[in-house]
Amino acid sequence: MTGTASEAGAASPGPGPAGGSAPGAEPGAAAAAAAAVPRDFFATPFSIGPVVVPNRVVLAPMAGLTCSAYRRHLKAHGAGLVVTEMVSAYGLIHGNRRTTEDYLYFLEEERPIAAQLFGDTPEALERAARLVLEGQAPGPGHKARTVLPSARPDMLDINMGCPVPKVTRSGAGSALLATPERAVDIAAAVVRVAAEYGLPVTVKVRSGLREGERTAVALAPRLEAVGVAALGVHPRATSQHYSGKADHSVTADIVKVVGIPVIASGDVMSVSAAKAIVDATGASAVMAARGATGDPWLVDALLAGEDRPRPPLPEVVADLRTLLGLVVVDMGEQRALKWIYRLIGWYLRPSKVPVSVMDALRAAPDAAALDEGLVALLSG
Ligand SMILES: Cc1cc2nc3c(=O)[nH]c(=O)nc-3n(C[C@H](O)[C@H](O)[C@H](O)COP(=O)(O)O)c2cc1C
Repeated sequence: MTGTASEAGAASPGPGPAGGSAPGAEPGAAAAAAAAVPRDFFATPFSIGPVVVPNRVVLAPMAGLTCSAYRRHLKAHGAGLVVTEMVSAYGLIHGNRRTTEDYLYFLEEERPIAAQLFGDTPEALERAARLVLEGQAPGPGHKARTVLPSARPDMLDINMGCPVPKVTRSGAGSALLATPERAVDIAAAVVRVAAEYGLPVTVKVRSGLREGERTAVALAPRLEAVGVAALGVHPRATSQHYSGKADHSVTADIVKVVGIPVIASGDVMSVSAAKAIVDATGASAVMAARGATGDPWLVDALLAGEDRPRPPLPEVVADLRTLLGLVVVDMGEQRALKWIYRLIGWYLRPSKVPVSVMDALRAAPDAAALDEGLVALLSG
């Protein structure tokens, strides 16, 4: 396994319905939670080990999506912490060019940033962590390459949540929930390496392998005991992939048994939903994932502490054009066009742009044509 696995491609989850409320919440419960969680909650800082995160809105790692350009864009909307796409430990060890040059690339303005690694053994993760933190990924067939042109990230995150068979087959990602000893050994190994650089390590978990399992609740204190500084919790089972509701009663149980910050992930689709999740769980922060794809204003709204109407079409188009420009610079035109394909629908569908128009935009032969097509939306 090299590079990021196409979790996005395999699951194609896409953005979920906006305006959801916390799982299991009674009608009106989200409104009550909105009152219970202070308006400025998400705008206040929190700490992960020695790293101060300026606010409580984390951009979730999303393979195929959270590249440097996208992270910078969401950072401009206010995200307090961003995470790379998941990066294969073996990709790093083997000096895979895409892994070393693309997936771990970031700019200073993205800080604080976590680099997310996945792999199946403590040895592989330890080596990979060292390569990331040393900034070099030598490998057979390649000259030593600079992994991180800017510098080392502010923290390392270990993926124990990916449900995609390509990853779990080898025992990595959420398959680690089935081998808790190994999961703890992996965390301990990465913590040891990161400690040499004074950096914290976080782990992102799912609830369990099958629906109803709460494996992560027993695992969480063991991860804390070996020095993990924060946990990201996506309380869906591996078998659910991205369907169904996240069961944040698992998040709440984890918050009860650890002293480190817990970042709640899953169904953060609106400010009221996020407040209901925080109210029900005691989580320190939330992760915006599908809720922010096509709706980066969710991040602004979280920081403002209240839901807001979606901006009018000119603002939506301007935002998408800005993102296009950033991605083209980083990836070149043809890769950028492929990358932005899904975003076109996610951005424009809620603004009621006709399907035929979105199809025409997706068929644009180059970035200039796509940009012109976007501008033309405003004169139509
Ligand atoms: C397209 C896509 C790619 C994802 N890739 C990753 C990944 O690389 N690493 C990870 O830990 N989680 C990944 N996730 C999971 C998200 O970080 C998040 O936990 C999940 O989508 C639940 O949040 P939501 O219900 O608000 O979307 C991905 C999710 C999506 C939709």
